[in-house]
Amino acid sequence: MTQSLTLRRPDDWHLHLRDGAMLKGVLPETARHFGRAIIMPNLVPPVVTGDQAAAYRDRILAALPEGASFEPLMVLYLTEGTDPADVRAAHASGLVKAVKLYPAGATTNSHGGVRNFENVRAVLDTMAEIGLPLCVHGEVTTHEVDIFDREAVFIDTVLDPLRRATPGLRVVMEHITTEEGVAYARTGGPDLGATITTHHLIINRNHILAGGIKPHYYCLPVAKREKHRLALRKAATSGEGCYFLGTDSAPHVDALKEHACGCAGCFTATNTMSCLAHVFEEEGALDRLEAFTSLNGPAFYRLPVNEGTIRLVKHEAPHAFPEKIYTEAGPVTVFNPGFPLHWTVEA
Ligand code: NCD
Ligand code: ZN
Repeated sequence: MTQSLTLRRPDDWHLHLRDGAMLKGVLPETARHFGRAIIMPNLVPPVVTGDQAAAYRDRILAALPEGASFEPLMVLYLTEGTDPADVRAAHASGLVKAVKLYPAGATTNSHGGVRNFENVRAVLDTMAEIGLPLCVHGEVTTHEVDIFDREAVFIDTVLDPLRRATPGLRVVMEHITTEEGVAYARTGGPDLGATITTHHLIINRNHILAGGIKPHYYCLPVAKREKHRLALRKAATSGEGCYFLGTDSAPHVDALKEHACGCAGCFTATNTMSCLAHVFEEEGALDRLEAFTSLNGPAFYRLPVNEGTIRLVKHEAPHAFPEKIYTEAGPVTVFNPGFPLHWTVEA
């Protein structure tokens, strides 16, 4: 018997679409299944002001395939020069749904991020007042801290003090990768949420490093040891409202991934829903997939759930996703989960 599952149309609460030729190439991969996505602002130059966010939104809408219905939810990139009045206006107009905090140097195009939190105090206070969420890339950038410890150290030394100093600030811990992240997210009440990526439910650090280096599994925050992957699986499949999907699908052309200094990012937009159905089925939690992909995120962001639905179907034979998509910017390798995928989203 064919197994199938109907879900509210999902949203992606953390997505990199880039710009220009890459945007045009990758946008259809997300718009095919997802109703909305929180669009990361780490372009070159970054999306800092309300005007820049409006222009970027228009470029995204112009790049949508005919007939697609997809709403980009725009995000401002927090810098030490961000003007609280601009943030307030961009939120009041309905344009901007979050502000992104990159600790300077933490990841791709983060050099314009925050070094001294005192310099963004007025912006954070404004955000707390108007209820605008802060999406946080939660890693310290100190060279002395081991890359596998940077998330846990960030929670203790930066995130917790920051939240205590800014009562009422709504925070999303982006792409959590550790059991410490899972535990902290759960303690914060309705003003604290956490996104979890598709790939962090599937790979641990062995997948990147054992038996030869696999650049297409390298992303930031880097995948950790197995116990952390298991904690993430438990959280994602728990149905608890604080955890929701943010794929962090982050395309880079193959030439920059397969490189002496390879870029961080896994491109999962193409097969995310198939991978997630597989994971949730393995965990005996297919009945909680919809909470993770389609309900918990809108509840946190105080947005209605999507109107439409998608139907996932499990096939006897595995579905062959393309190994790469070919954008005008160059080929981009699609995330390989390392197991056959039997679930597809019905067209
Ligand atoms: C992201 C990118 O390429 O922009 N890379 C990644 O590994 N996730 C940046 C980010 O989200 O950290
Ligand atoms: Zn990201």
